[in-house]
Amino acid sequence: MARKLFVAGNWKMNTSVAYSVELAKGLAAQIGAVDSVDIAVCPPAVYLAGVCEALKGSNIAVGAQNMYFEDDGAFTGEISTAMVKDVGCKYVILGHSERRHVMGESDEMINTKVLKALSDDVLPMFCIGELLQEREAGKTNDVLRRQVTVGLEGVSRGDMQRVTVAYEPVWAIGTGVTASPAQAQEVHAMLRELLGTIYDAGLADAIRIQYGGSVKGSNAAELLGQPDVDGALVGGASLKVDDFVAIVKAVM
Ligand code: PGA
Repeated sequence: MARKLFVAGNWKMNTSVAYSVELAKGLAAQIGAVDSVDIAVCPPAVYLAGVCEALKGSNIAVGAQNMYFEDDGAFTGEISTAMVKDVGCKYVILGHSERRHVMGESDEMINTKVLKALSDDVLPMFCIGELLQEREAGKTNDVLRRQVTVGLEGVSRGDMQRVTVAYEPVWAIGTGVTASPAQAQEVHAMLRELLGTIYDAGLADAIRIQYGGSVKGSNAAELLGQPDVDGALVGGASLKVDDFVAIVKAVM
C-alpha cells in the first residue's frame, strides 16, 4: 500500500521565542502548502503556542517533544496531553532516545505515555532504536523487539493506526553518521513484520515507520526511497529553514 511520507522536525532544546517563530514562518512560506507529504515540527514546550500560531493556516502540524501521563496536579516541570492539545498540537514524540538514555525513561513509562496520548487523541511518534554496542553485539533486533512489545503493550489495533513509529539508531543521532539505506530498510522491514505478528499484516502495511539519525537534504531521497522507510524524524537539519525545506523537497 502507498503510505504517505511523514517528515517531522525535532528541534530538541534549541531556538528562542523569536527564532522559533521565524523558523516556523520561514517553513510555512516555502512548504506550508505541501500536501503530498505530511510535515510537522516539534519545538520546545515553551514555544509551542507561538509556533502553533505562526503555522495557522498552513499544512505544517505541530508536535510536543514529550508529555506526562497524568491529567494534572503536583508534577513539577511536566506538561499534560490537555496542555499539548490546548496549544494546538496534533502530535507528541514519545520514547526519544534522549528521553530514554539521558532522562532514564523506561519502556514501561513510555508505554504509559503512549496509552495516555492515544486516549486523549494526541498522536504519538513512538521512537525506538539500538545503541552502538547493542548493534555491535548483534542485539539490534532483540532490543527493538523489546522496545516495541513493551512500549506498545495494550495499544489496540484501532489505536495503532494513529501511531507513527520512528526508528532512530542511537549511533546515528546527531553524529553525522546515517544508517545506510540498506541498513535502514533491513530494520524497517523487520519492524513491519513484527507489527504484523503483533497485529496483522494489513495493519502493519498501513503503519508509517520514519527513519531518524542524521537525515539531511543530500541523503533523504535515498533513505526515504527504501520501500519500508515512510518518512524522517529530523534533528539538526530541522533547525534551519533551507535545510528542512531541502529534505521535504527531496522526497516530494
Ligand atoms: P539528528 O537527530 O537528525 O540530529 O541526528 C534525529 C533525532 O534525534 O530525532
